Amino acid sequence: MRESQPVYFDPQMQGWHIFRYEDVARVLTEHATFSSDRNRFTPAGDPNSNPIISSMLFMDPPRHHQLRQLVSQAFTPRMVARMEARIQEITNDLLDKVVAKGEMEVIRDLAGPLPVTVIAELLGIPTERREEFKQWCDDFLSGDGNATPEAQQVGMQAAGSMVSYFNKLLEQRRAQPHDDLVSALLQAEVDGEHLSSEELVGFCVLLLLAGNETTTNLLGNTILCLDEHPEAVEQLRARRELVPGALEEALRYYSPVKIMLRWPVSETTLSDQRIEAGQTLLAWLPSANRDEAQFPNADQFIIEREPNRHLGFGRGIHFCLGAPLARLEAKIALNTMLDRLPGSWRVPDVPLSPINNLSVFGIAKLPL
Ligand code: HEM
Repeated sequence: MRESQPVYFDPQMQGWHIFRYEDVARVLTEHATFSSDRNRFTPAGDPNSNPIISSMLFMDPPRHHQLRQLVSQAFTPRMVARMEARIQEITNDLLDKVVAKGEMEVIRDLAGPLPVTVIAELLGIPTERREEFKQWCDDFLSGDGNATPEAQQVGMQAAGSMVSYFNKLLEQRRAQPHDDLVSALLQAEVDGEHLSSEELVGFCVLLLLAGNETTTNLLGNTILCLDEHPEAVEQLRARRELVPGALEEALRYYSPVKIMLRWPVSETTLSDQRIEAGQTLLAWLPSANRDEAQFPNADQFIIEREPNRHLGFGRGIHFCLGAPLARLEAKIALNTMLDRLPGSWRVPDVPLSPINNLSVFGIAKLPL
């Protein structure tokens, strides 16, 4: 498609698929032309059924800029660095159980529980409710636009549960601040202005959803890459300094996030195709990340690839706010696996099912 129909209108999705790196990068960086404001171009949804719609992800400047400044005060690189020791501890505990059992299912035993525990601790969610949160996230994501009406119903219920949970948590933290992200968000201000309750809830839900499934799949997809390239595991064991580059290459090779949505504010052209204002664009990150015009030998997994300007975390003003946290979690998880699980790692020769989701790519179960 990148060669023959790089910009392709899909009557079923009522939108244009964008496949080339150059076009996807333009759509993400030229935010004055390609809007993220879903409410401006599609019928406004009920914020309780999809709180993400009222989050910064679907906003344009100047409001996006103000919100990003506000949340950046609470979600700082220093705060992420402070999490390092705790992430290591959680990873050790999870791998202790794996070593004791003598077998591993990567998603169930490490890639799933690690990010949800980290994000729940950041948000100040009690330990005993983590399973419930993971379930809400899974239900919400499986109820996306492509799902059956029943799954969409379950997804909406999960969204409602998250909204009411965070509304209560915000009330509690307003009355009695703790040393957590929610309390920091309540205090953050730009030009004398605080986040509204709706924006605060939208951001908490966004963190929970954006920070969970994506990081789970980065870890799972990295193991899949290493299973397909066993020589890379040996290379990483011998040279640990290659771990961060290997994770970037996994983000490129099996990108966890599939589609970014945008709407042109005026008539525009991508790869010679005219597109009208307000039409939906579906910019495909995994396709852009395999574009030979940008990445020589794009279909090869090369852990020392340099340069590697992949779009796995997006680009431009919406560039992933959680990228430093995701990179840190993945680095600690992979290094600890290399320390604790010697020998070769092989996924048994059984059929693997991709998770059923329009916007995220990963494997549902990954026995190792
Ligand atoms: C935005 C990917 C982990 C929070 C994004 C975007 C991408 C992305 C592609 C851009 C969205 C756009 O342009 O419309 C990923 C991947 C992750 C990951 C692949 C893991 C491997 C996280 C984590 C957090 C997080 C751990 C937080 C705990 C966010 C937020 C935004 C965002 C808040 C919105 C930024 C904005 O609109 O300005 N992410 N993400 N992400 N991500 Fe991540």
